[in-house]
Amino acid sequence: MQISAFSFLLALATPVFGAAGDGDWAAAYTKAKAALGKLSNQDKVNMVTGSGWQKGPCVGNTVAINSINYPALCLQDGPLGIRYAQQVTAFPAGITTGSTWDPSLMYARGYAIGEEAKGLGVHVQLGPVAGPLGKIPTGGRNWEGFAADPYLSGIAMAETVEGMQAAGVQACAKHYIGNEQELHRGTQSANIDDRTNHELYLWPFADAVKANVTSVMCSYNKFNTTWVCENKQLLTNILKDELDFQGYVVSDWAGQHSTAGSANAGLDMTMPGDNFGDNKFLWGSALLQAIQTSEVPQSRLDDMVTRILASWYFVGQDKGYPSVQGWTSWNGGIGGPNVQGDHKNVARAIARDGIVLLKNDDNALPLKKPASLAIIGDDAIVNPKGANSCEDRGCDSGTLAMGWGSGTADFPYLIAPLDAIKAQASKDGTTITTSTTDDPSQGASAAAAAATAIVEGAAGDRLNLDPWHNGNDLVKAVANVNKKTIVVVHSAGPLILEPILSLPNVVAVVWAGIPGQETGNGLADILYGSTSPSGKLPYTIAKAPSDYGVSIASGDDNYSEGLYIDYRHFDKNSISPRYEFGFGLSYTTFSYSSLTSTPISTSPGSTTKAPGGISNLYDTVATVTATITNNGTVAGAEVAQLYIGLPSSAPATPVRQLRGFNKISLQPAASATVKFTLRRKDLSYWDSGSQKWVLPTGTFNVFVGASSRDLRLTGTLTA
Ligand code: BGC
Repeated sequence: MQISAFSFLLALATPVFGAAGDGDWAAAYTKAKAALGKLSNQDKVNMVTGSGWQKGPCVGNTVAINSINYPALCLQDGPLGIRYAQQVTAFPAGITTGSTWDPSLMYARGYAIGEEAKGLGVHVQLGPVAGPLGKIPTGGRNWEGFAADPYLSGIAMAETVEGMQAAGVQACAKHYIGNEQELHRGTQSANIDDRTNHELYLWPFADAVKANVTSVMCSYNKFNTTWVCENKQLLTNILKDELDFQGYVVSDWAGQHSTAGSANAGLDMTMPGDNFGDNKFLWGSALLQAIQTSEVPQSRLDDMVTRILASWYFVGQDKGYPSVQGWTSWNGGIGGPNVQGDHKNVARAIARDGIVLLKNDDNALPLKKPASLAIIGDDAIVNPKGANSCEDRGCDSGTLAMGWGSGTADFPYLIAPLDAIKAQASKDGTTITTSTTDDPSQGASAAAAAATAIVEGAAGDRLNLDPWHNGNDLVKAVANVNKKTIVVVHSAGPLILEPILSLPNVVAVVWAGIPGQETGNGLADILYGSTSPSGKLPYTIAKAPSDYGVSIASGDDNYSEGLYIDYRHFDKNSISPRYEFGFGLSYTTFSYSSLTSTPISTSPGSTTKAPGGISNLYDTVATVTATITNNGTVAGAEVAQLYIGLPSSAPATPVRQLRGFNKISLQPAASATVKFTLRRKDLSYWDSGSQKWVLPTGTFNVFVGASSRDLRLTGTLTA
């Protein structure tokens, strides 16, 4: 099963980029400029203004321009699958994709999402997510993104964008920028200094731009007191000039606040056009008028349209792209073509490889044909009212396999943990006892009857960092009567695990993320050991909420923690986390040896601008290698991680930051060399004064290890 999933992935990992379109911005711009000449200003305004909420099949729509064979554009959520559609794959969320630390799976998921979007005629699929980055552990949408670290998030953004666009759909990197919380997102100002912005929040968006993302969604909040969707510094100076972004900026839904202000700042498309059905349009005829009075220059309107057209050509949507099928709920269309193909294999591989094993005393896992097993908790089963019974998954009933809101899709089916465990139990002759409520007393009586108890606990969007449904009480009641209690957690983000870990009978903790439709199968692969766990935490799990040093702000947020979020903050303040960023156990063990590094290249490289910024920022300037050996007894995969500390000539910077990782599968006793390539940007800091990335002189510290704290090899790098 896993083998076939993998050979499928490898086949996908090598398509010729641009197979779907030109993959060539210059050619796309030439076509766009030719088409622009055939358009009236009314056509142009129609292309940049959404038709109005629910005035078309998708969450965002424009009208067709027949003179150039340009379709009514369909923009559809979301980051883990196609929202409001049937017979589509409900993939694992971004955060569980991030916790695989596996670029080939990130790409495969992006490609599969792109294929499904194209199959339904979606032109712009509204993902992936790099904002929120996840600075606030209770942030309600962190699960849509990949990691609370810009480097890991950036790699995931690039792989996802490349996969999606190679399949033919336009990707949309969102939400740009400073959308770190949901509370007051429509009024709050994210006041972020220029260096912090470049080194944390902008970083993964730059990787998406480097990967040629065709659209970027500006977020609801303000940035340094100006609405993002009319912030010239962000949209024009940083995104389009500094990062050389070739595509277009689309507003988050009703995130636009003015006609001329947004246009002149660099917004290129407004969605959904009106304010969720009020029929009041800030563009449309108002933009036409602003052009006539020169409040908005004609050149700006032409630039908007050119960017939108170039993006459409760039991915090849001008050639035989499927038309939109009637499949959204408000379009009355139930059904549409089945576009799932064999994507369930990618979904299962991520659900499996995204699992992080946090604790495993005395090899409690994998399960070895236990005589009896109690499965306890509402998170073990599908919501009895149906997997899709709550709109946008807006309830936390049954197993948590998706978050809530616009970033969801309907499940075509949902394999719950109990379903998959039962299937294996019947092969093994294991007696299963269940209590699929979160009632502690019922859980305890089920557990008392069994040798091993698996407690499934869920957490959703989030008032605090405790498990939902009194998960702590449930685990306590079970562990009081059962000596071998295994806790499986599905959670949108970090939880405080201290109450659970303080129970001596809790022998294992399996951190299973937000795993999508194949959740049960992916979990069973790990519980029964057909695959060793290989996921690593994409954020830090603290001992106490206050250890993070940040929380949801009730007014504006001044980002006073600067660069010090997640592990950077714990390292700076010498706070011991419970489980650090990058942590994850396996059923085998790995040793690290033989660190080598090249000197840092002094070649200046090309200083021309290209998508992503000055091109030499992406040149490899040094490489580091290490040897990893599987010195345990079973096959497994290790994520070797490279952290870099800047020389003392640089301004104050986190003591170490992730700047490389490499996931490698090894048989017992096998060794391999992993190679980390460092780009100029990976070794630089952003100098706000000169508005440049500066590669500091002096000695860089190099750390290679199994997590951000489990640093097995250290060395240095110099020019
Ligand atoms: C969300 C976006 C989403 C859009 C369209 C907004 O409220 O923030 O992520 O793409 O709605 O549904």
